[in-house]
Amino acid sequence: MARLLAAIVVVLATGALTAWLVASVIGPGLFHEHMVRAGVGDHDAAVLHAEEAFRDASTVSLALATAAAALASAAVSLVLARRIGRSLAAVSDAAARVGAGDYAHRVPAPGLGREFDDLAASFNTMGDRLHEADRLRARLLADVAHELRTPVATLAGYVEAVEDGVQTMDATTIAVLREQTVRLTRLAEDLAAVTRAEAGDVALDRAAVAPAELLDAAAAAVRERAAAAGVAVVVVPAAGVPPVLADRTRAAQVLDNLLTNAVRHTPAGGTVTLSARPGDGTVAIDVADTGEGIGATHLLHVFERFYRVDTARDRGRGGAGIGLAISRALALAHGGDLVASSPGPGGGSTFTLTLPTA
Ligand SMILES: Nc1ncnc2c1ncn2[C@@H]1O[C@H](COP(=O)(O)OP(=O)(O)OP(=O)(O)O)[C@@H](O)[C@H]1O
Ligand SMILES: [Mg+2]
Repeated sequence: MARLLAAIVVVLATGALTAWLVASVIGPGLFHEHMVRAGVGDHDAAVLHAEEAFRDASTVSLALATAAAALASAAVSLVLARRIGRSLAAVSDAAARVGAGDYAHRVPAPGLGREFDDLAASFNTMGDRLHEADRLRARLLADVAHELRTPVATLAGYVEAVEDGVQTMDATTIAVLREQTVRLTRLAEDLAAVTRAEAGDVALDRAAVAPAELLDAAAAAVRERAAAAGVAVVVVPAAGVPPVLADRTRAAQVLDNLLTNAVRHTPAGGTVTLSARPGDGTVAIDVADTGEGIGATHLLHVFERFYRVDTARDRGRGGAGIGLAISRALALAHGGDLVASSPGPGGGSTFTLTLPTA
């Protein structure tokens, strides 16, 4: 505010000084010259009067103009400074509140032109992001706690029962204890993997790989489990499809996650089909099943950590809901993508992994 006023004072002072110089030094000379050229004698009383009148008129009009300009600019700068000050105060107040953890606080558009509106919009976008990150962090912690509770409670219950002599340490008990420890170990591993993958902290050992090789290896790894569940695994020959640039182990991990899901969500008698097709600088690998399908609302969320369509049932089937989050992060790390589509419940699902060509 003070700086703006000082700048205006400098501008006004420069303008007034210039005007005064012109009016008192250059103007009278010019006027005198014109009077003489008009044929009036050099020292006539009329000339002296006219010149004095000219000087007075110039001085008064310049003084008035300068005063009016000073008043107008003071008024304009006061109004501007107030409005800018108010908008900046709103932004700094909002920054302080967001800094203190009130992520939902927003600044209104100041209506002072594009730059200020952009500043407010960027600030609000930052607020949205922080709010979302905070929400996800809170949910992640709640989910982890929830996932830990069941196996830990089962372990504690069994140990207590053995201590009390209600349960003997037989093969069944040991199997239950082992299953829960395996589940806890897997949860810890998956959490570490998804955190690393989502932070982009995965070292990829990329090389040209023929898609047909990836499909065959992935199908071979799951075939036995699928057969036990009465699900057929079909690989569509991908001989003509160009090689992809991928880390073989990581790509296999993604396909294994997709196939495990597909087999798990397809009733006996169904089929899981693996195929590859060339795209624009990419190759798309489809894992399609004839199983349960996924409703449109769930489709938006299946890649989120811990998201399961049927929480109780899916957990019962051994899933923590992290597989697709890891898979998608790995696909993105490759410069590819992983998307899901389904016509809805009962219609089967297709997961498409895109990888760049070599
Ligand atoms: N092929 C599929 N058909 C129907 N639903 C699926 C399919 N694949 C995934 N889903 C749904 O998406 C959810 C998330 O899958 P995701 O692989 O992330 O977790 P999960 O398989 O339950 O657990 P995890 O992979 O960590 O063992 C699943 O719980 C399931 O509800
Ligand atoms: Mg899974």
